[in-house]
Amino acid sequence: MTRVVVVGSINMDLVTLAPRFPAPGETILGERFLTVHGGKGANQAVAAARLGAEVTLVGAVGDDAFGEQLREGLARENVQLEHVARIADSSSGTASITVAEGDNNIVVVPGANAHVTPAQIEGARLAFDHADVILVQMEIPPESVEATLRLGQRVGKPVILNPAPARKLPVEWLKLARYLTPNQHELAILLGADADENFHSLMRRSPAPVVLTRGGDGAWFREEGEPVHQAGFKVDVADTTGAGDTFNAAFAVFLHEGLPTAARKACAAAALSVTRLGAQGGMPTRGELDAFLTARA
Ligand code: RIB
Repeated sequence: MTRVVVVGSINMDLVTLAPRFPAPGETILGERFLTVHGGKGANQAVAAARLGAEVTLVGAVGDDAFGEQLREGLARENVQLEHVARIADSSSGTASITVAEGDNNIVVVPGANAHVTPAQIEGARLAFDHADVILVQMEIPPESVEATLRLGQRVGKPVILNPAPARKLPVEWLKLARYLTPNQHELAILLGADADENFHSLMRRSPAPVVLTRGGDGAWFREEGEPVHQAGFKVDVADTTGAGDTFNAAFAVFLHEGLPTAARKACAAAALSVTRLGAQGGMPTRGELDAFLTARA
């Protein structure tokens, strides 16, 4: 069983389904509203647990009703919560998500996620020691992302940095990551490059190996200096929220099987995740993933 530590955000997702995205200043009528559990850290933890990993999450919720509901949801998914803090006088993180036209847009209010500190990460050292792989994203303070990369380095465990939402990071930090898993847009921001620079050239000059996600078009990675493409799997799309998180979790869980297999399984898991509503709604179990891959072999 792969042991995964996920360091990252925990949000309540407030999801509106709409026929299209409203223009700035415009009001339109939506079709449906849902409150579902999300946050990139929590999503990656749940996806990894459903795929059979033993998962510890390092993060924070507020002392509001959402905080309790989010903890209960994670516990039901067998995610270990001893490193999830409850922050007094803070709201839990929220994400206002509009799903329309086969895509989504998201506004995140960090709330308690802004209180995930380097000291809290240091406090999870034992969990890092026992882990096979660490996953971290960027909805927590940058100094805590850095602390995760440095602790992973110190205890000799590979850290996968999913740079979402993207911001430019010091090259020193990026070098500490075993893999970076951005999309093209995130990679350009991360490296401070032009938005229109070709992704192959961005991948070549990245300070750490990149596994680049391309939505329905799958993923690219490099082996022995050569670019390799893993094609995406065609499915009917209900909601793309959380697809990147599912990709990252599966990639971490199956990394010990080698890069090509990990990328293939990650693309398949991400494809399954978009077939149902909500970030965590479509995340497959290990059995569902195996059955899907057998059917598509
Ligand atoms: O990656 C999807 C997630 O991004 C959502 O669940 C939302 O909470 C935002 O953090």
